[in-house]
Amino acid sequence: MADTETKALKSYADIPLLDWDLLNPEFSSYDLFRKLREETPLVKVQMGMGTMVLGLRASMVDDVVSPENTRQLETEMKMMQGIFDGPIFDFIAQVMLFANGEAHQRRRQPVARTFAFKLMEAMRPKAATVAAEIIDEHLGKGPFDFLKEFAAQLPARIIADILGIPRSDLPVFMKWISDTAESIGFVDVSRRADIETSLVAFNAYVDKLLADRRANPRGDFLSDYVAATAASGDMTDGEIRAQVVGLILAGSDTTRNSMCMTLFELLQHPEQWKALCADPDGLKKRASEEGLRYQPVVSAIPRVTTKDLEIEGYLIPAGAVLAVSILSVLRDPAVYADPESFNIHRADQQRWHLAFGAGAHRCAGEALARVELEETLAVLARLAPNTRVTGPSPKLQPGAIRTVDQFQVQFA
Ligand code: HEM
Repeated sequence: MADTETKALKSYADIPLLDWDLLNPEFSSYDLFRKLREETPLVKVQMGMGTMVLGLRASMVDDVVSPENTRQLETEMKMMQGIFDGPIFDFIAQVMLFANGEAHQRRRQPVARTFAFKLMEAMRPKAATVAAEIIDEHLGKGPFDFLKEFAAQLPARIIADILGIPRSDLPVFMKWISDTAESIGFVDVSRRADIETSLVAFNAYVDKLLADRRANPRGDFLSDYVAATAASGDMTDGEIRAQVVGLILAGSDTTRNSMCMTLFELLQHPEQWKALCADPDGLKKRASEEGLRYQPVVSAIPRVTTKDLEIEGYLIPAGAVLAVSILSVLRDPAVYADPESFNIHRADQQRWHLAFGAGAHRCAGEALARVELEETLAVLARLAPNTRVTGPSPKLQPGAIRTVDQFQVQFA
């Protein structure tokens, strides 16, 4: 960090304060981010009971996620939403996403090994088969709800297969996912009791799966995972379970919403959709990466400063909540040419795509998410090239994880 005494730094109080909170619909407006980014590198916004500083430019990502400067919010994230105990609080206290240092490492390591890129690559044929299976259910049958009947189904069916969950349990498994997914983002407090009832049932189900693999290992992901945690011997039963529930939840809404928005943008740009249909395998990665850039579903990477931090000419005090806006950075003209255009042919995609975060907490399911998104797009382009949108344009609702309101299509 630069010498703060020799430079005239602006203070925390000088950072412009926006007078609405993170759940305000304005918060997803790219126009607003463009204007703000040109005027100021940082803004302050309301977050529950507190205030968060939001960084808007690509140049600050490394500083914000560096363990030298910041740490992940632990249970503060929930306390700011008025949640101080109970099943949601306990889950957040045990999951890798909100842990720091040694606790983060020991929770992430057994998962990271099993979810590695090479192992997930082997899931490509499975993802393509599941996508084809769902397309078959709707091909030539008129308009349907792509959000619920395709995009929510695919990640759930795949993670269920990875975990060895029988297809007959899929409906209740999917209900728990949809009931509890918001635990990791901003909880609508009026729904807290319902979320917690489902979370307790979900935890009990995962505990049963884990007990079964301990008693009868069968060479699948969960058997390897319980063996890895037993070998290291440093995780509690609650932590072992929370990583499994965490994987399921972190991989559901994110992939589902990204799938909808990428397909929608492709269909809005018929020449790019046609190009994908002509060369699905050649363009599926580009199409998926541009969808993730143009309509990212995780809106920000929030952290807490662990020291007074100079950033873009401002001095942020230790203990402040400081985030990078993924929405803003993925349209920063310093990185992307013509950033407001959706272009699957662009040459400036970044190797470490920011849609999956940055630093130690970078998405542990990135490899699986990429496989699911790419194979879905390729199979759709191959089997349903005449897909069209039959309802209103889908909109992403603001939130820590942005969710699509609705998306109706027809596989003609
Ligand atoms: C389009 C799909 C996805 C997107 C955009 C996405 C995005 C992200 C982002 C931005 C983070 C970092 C958050 C932070 O640092 O504050 C993250 C973390 C994480 N993601 Fe994903 N994700 C996706 C899919 C998945 C899938 C499919 C899984 C697992 C099956 C998964 C599991 C996780 C886990 C476990 C973490 C926590 C990692 C840690 O704290 O070390 N994600 N994800």
